[in-house]
Amino acid sequence: MLETDELSVAHVSAFGWEKVDPAFRDDVLHGLAGPIPSIPARWLYDRRGSELFDEITRLDAYYPTRTETALLTRIMPQIVAALAPGLAVVEFGAGSATKTPLLLEAVHPAAYVPIDISGDYLHESAGVVDDAFHFPVFPVVADFTRELTLPAEIASMPKLGFFPGSTIGNFVPRSATDLLRHFRALLGTGSRLLIGMDRVKPVERLIAAYDDPEGVTAAFNLNLIERMNRELNGTIPPSAFVHEARWNDMLGRIEMHLRATRDVTFTIEGHRFAFAEGSSIHTENSHKYGQRGARLMLLAGGWTPVAEWSDPAGDFTLILAEAQPNRFAP
Ligand code: AVI
Repeated sequence: MLETDELSVAHVSAFGWEKVDPAFRDDVLHGLAGPIPSIPARWLYDRRGSELFDEITRLDAYYPTRTETALLTRIMPQIVAALAPGLAVVEFGAGSATKTPLLLEAVHPAAYVPIDISGDYLHESAGVVDDAFHFPVFPVVADFTRELTLPAEIASMPKLGFFPGSTIGNFVPRSATDLLRHFRALLGTGSRLLIGMDRVKPVERLIAAYDDPEGVTAAFNLNLIERMNRELNGTIPPSAFVHEARWNDMLGRIEMHLRATRDVTFTIEGHRFAFAEGSSIHTENSHKYGQRGARLMLLAGGWTPVAEWSDPAGDFTLILAEAQPNRFAP
C-alpha cells in the first residue's frame, strides 16, 4: 500500500506509473481549502483538456478564434507595413495551426521562437513551421510567465512578440500587467507586441460562448474532476458537479465554475473536502476588455499601443504596441 506522499508523485494510468506534477497537487490542495475554492486554469489543459479546447475553438458559439483569424488575415498588410524588416517573431505559446502560419507567411521573419511549457506540443508545432518555411526556428521549452532566456541567435534582431487568442484575458489584471512587463523586459525597449483581446459584449453571447449547446465547454471544465481523481487519487463523484459559466459584471469577466448539485464530500490524496449544494470550485477567468481598458492595461505594462484593429461587429481586437523605456515621471 502506498503512503500519501508517494501518491503525490505517481499514479496508475493505462500505461503504468506516471509522474504527477507536484505543483498540481499543491494548487489543488490549497485551492480547494481556500475561502473561495478555486484551481488555476492552467490545470484544465492535460492532453484531454487540450483536445477539448481545440474542439471549443471550432464551435459556432465560440466566436473568438474565427473572428481573430479573419481579422488577422484582413489587416496583415497593415501589420507588415508597421514592422521593421529582419525581425524575430517570439510567440508566447506553442502557436496555433492557423494564426501562426498566417503571420509568418506575411512577415517573413529572420527567425521564429515559440515558447511553451509543453515540450511535446512545442516540438510538434515547431516541426510543422520548420518544414513549411525557410527561416530558423528556435523552440524554447519554458513557462513564459517565468524568468527565461531567449536564444542567443536572435539577440541582435528587432523583435515582435505574438500573443494571440485573448490568452491575456485568462490572467487577473494584476498578473496580466506583470506579464506584459515581463514580456517588455524580455523583448527589450523598442520591440513590438501583437496581442489579441476579446471585447465586452452582451452577456447572452458571452454565456453561450462559454456554455455551448454541444456541451464541449462543460466537458472541458468537468475533465478537471477526472484529472484530480486520476492523478491525485481523488474520490470526487463526477455526477455531483456541473459546469457553470457566469458573467461577473463588476470585474468584466466570464468565470467558469464547477457547481455542486448536492451536498458532497470527497478526498484528494487522503485530505477530506466538503461542498454544500450550490457552492462551487472556480476554475477559470476570461476577462473581456473595452477599448480604454485594453489601452490602459498595455500602458501599465510598459507598452504603448501604436495601432489597433477590430472586426466589423467589434467582437475582438488586435493591438500592435511598442515597448517603452523605463519612465518614472510624469
Ligand atoms: C485560452 N483562453 C483564451 C480561452 C478563453 O476564451 O478564455 C479558454 C476557454 N475556456 C473556455 N472556453 C475557452
